[in-house]
Amino acid sequence: MTSRDLESVAQTLVAEGKGILAADETIPTLTKRFDTLGIKSTEQSRRTYREMLFTSPGADEFISGAIMYDETIRQESSAGTPLAEALTAQGILPGIKVDTGAKPLAGFAGETVTEGLDGLRDRLREYRGMGARFAKWRAVIHVTDTLPSSACVRANAHALGRYASLCQEQELVPIVEPEVLMDGPHTIERCEEVTGLVLHAVFHALFEQGIALEEMLLKPNMVLAGKQCDRQASVNEVATATLRCLRRHVPAAVPGIVFLSGGQHARLATVHLNAINRLPGPKPWKISFSYGRALQDPALETWHGRDENLQAGQQALYRRARSNGAASVGKYTDEMEEASPRVDDPPHRRDWRDD
Ligand code: 13P
Repeated sequence: MTSRDLESVAQTLVAEGKGILAADETIPTLTKRFDTLGIKSTEQSRRTYREMLFTSPGADEFISGAIMYDETIRQESSAGTPLAEALTAQGILPGIKVDTGAKPLAGFAGETVTEGLDGLRDRLREYRGMGARFAKWRAVIHVTDTLPSSACVRANAHALGRYASLCQEQELVPIVEPEVLMDGPHTIERCEEVTGLVLHAVFHALFEQGIALEEMLLKPNMVLAGKQCDRQASVNEVATATLRCLRRHVPAAVPGIVFLSGGQHARLATVHLNAINRLPGPKPWKISFSYGRALQDPALETWHGRDENLQAGQQALYRRARSNGAASVGKYTDEMEEASPRVDDPPHRRDWRDD
C-alpha cells in the first residue's frame, strides 16, 4: 500500500453525500443504552444489533464507513460472514476504535487522558489483517470556567499524535477525535474558545509527529452551548461559530471533517450539519458526519431487541443516514423527515430553536 492509497481511503470516507456510522460503543456503554430500553445485553444481542445496522439495505448510498469495537470486528453475521466482510460486501469501509478509554488524569481532578498506546502497533497490524481500513481514537476534554488545564490538553494531543503516526505506519487512516464535551453550563463562546485551543494543540502535535494531513480525518465536536447553559444558541449561531473555529485551526490539507454528534438530538445534529454546509465562504475540507447516537438512536428504539422489528430498525437507520447524507451537501429539508415522526423526533426532544 502506498500513501496514495491512504489518501484515497480518506477521500472515500468523505465522498460526496456520504459520512461515517460510529457503532463502536464499548460493551459497558452499549449495555447502558440497551438497559434504558430493557434490552438484555449479551454477545448475541450485540451482534444482532450491529448486523442489523451494517446490513441496512441502501445505507451504503449515504454511509461510506462504519467504526466497530474490538468485540464486533471478531464477530460473524448470522450467515457466518465476519462482520468486517459483511460491511465490505455492502460497499462500506470497515473501521475500528483503537483507544482503550479516557482514564482519570493523575494530579488533575475532573480531567481525563485517553489510554491505549501500549501495544498499539501490534493491535493495528492485527486489525488491518482483519480488513480494517481506518481507525478512531477519542480524546475527551471537560469544560468549566477553569478547565481544561494545559496539562490535559497537551497530554491528549500528544497521544492523538502518537496514535495517528502508528496508524499511518500500519496503513490505516487515522480519525483524530478531540471531543470537547457539551456537558455543563458553559456558553457557546466558552466552547469556541476551548475548541480552538484544543484544535491548535492537536495540530501542533500532529505536525511534531510527522502526520501526513492528507491521509487523516478530523472528528471534532460542533461549537455549542453546554447542555445546562441557560441560553442555547440558535442553529445559525452554532453553524457560524463552528465554521469560524474550524477555519482558524484546521489546515486545508485535511481532506475531511466528520463531526461527532455528542448527545445532540438526532434531528438537530442533522440541522446543524446542514447549516454549516450552507454557510458561504471558503470550506477547504469536506464537512460530513461520523455520528453514533444521532444515527443509531431511532434505529435502536425501533428495534427494541425484537427480531420482528429488525427491518423497521434498518429503515430507521436508512432515514437518518439519508437525511445526514443530504446535510453533508447542504441539501437537507424538513420534508425528508415526514416518515415516522414519532420515532425520529420524540416531542420531549424538540427543545431546540431555529432562527
Ligand atoms: P456520538 O455521535 O454519539 O457522539 O458518537 C460519536 C463517537 O464516535 C464518539 O467517539
